[in-house]
Amino acid sequence: MSTAEAGVVPAEVAAWRCDPYTEALVRGGGPLYLRRSDGSALPLDVERWCGAVDTVDAALLDRCEGSVLDVGCGPGRLVAALAGRGRSALGIDPNPTAVARATASGGRALCRSAFDPLPQEGGWDTALLVDGNIGIGGAPGRLLSRIRSLVRAGGLLIVETAPGDVCEHMTVRICDERGRLGDPFPWARLGIPALLRLAERAEWTRADVWEADERRFVALRSAAGAPVAAADARPPGGRTAQPERSATAPRAYRTAPTTAEAAKSSAQSNSQRPANGCPGSPLLDR
Ligand SMILES: C[S@@+](CC[C@H](N)C(=O)[O-])C[C@H]1O[C@@H](n2cnc3c(N)ncnc32)[C@H](O)[C@@H]1O
Repeated sequence: MSTAEAGVVPAEVAAWRCDPYTEALVRGGGPLYLRRSDGSALPLDVERWCGAVDTVDAALLDRCEGSVLDVGCGPGRLVAALAGRGRSALGIDPNPTAVARATASGGRALCRSAFDPLPQEGGWDTALLVDGNIGIGGAPGRLLSRIRSLVRAGGLLIVETAPGDVCEHMTVRICDERGRLGDPFPWARLGIPALLRLAERAEWTRADVWEADERRFVALRSAAGAPVAAADARPPGGRTAQPERSATAPRAYRTAPTTAEAAKSSAQSNSQRPANGCPGSPLLDR
């Protein structure tokens, strides 16, 4: 029986349902961090994510074409703004409170992982990986392949990158100001050069690169060719960080919350920039 059939939620998905993140979403702000195993930390800008779109976001949305899939939409400021513009947009996020907020603010959102079966697979005109979401699953090459299978041939992917020539794979835990920690999960940070290298392998071509208010973005265009092989787009799976080129991978899994999880959910600087430490941590970002 596959993990999907068994209803198993991979660690890197379950980790985003932890209390520190959920409570920050309910409050509408942090402080919240991704804490690395060496104690250094990356801030998560939950307050900005829970707010309205700013001018940088608005310019990003101007570039979107047709229907838009926001992968890791969080509380949904982007899908809500797109809906306000009369655009067809869907956010996906495994945290039920994030999805509840996105829906309450007028966006369309589903409680799913990027690696779950999704509506309109192969038909999205634009996909978004912003606010550090290229780190989802800790295997960016596989994520890029998965998104390639979600957008149409010739479709667009807009990725927000880290500053500089960064290519980091790490194990992190979500950490709040009281030092409470979620479970460990794999994450990644990529600067523009590393992203472009991986994108080429996943059959994306560079369409544009820009910077606005110290945030960096890359627009990629999917090659108008053969569809992505399912094996290239499967999740890394497993409970610990997997190498980028893992030979085996489980079948897609569903992450819709259980009834208990759904009942429990009510309701910067961003993770691209290093933090000056995390509560309980003696170390700075290194
Ligand atoms: C760095 S935060 C960015 C949040 C965000 N873009 C926003 O506007 O609030 C990463 C987000 O991705 C979500 N996420 C984590 N794993 C995911 C997965 N496998 N598929 C889709 N979203 C995921 C998390 O729940 C979290 O909301």
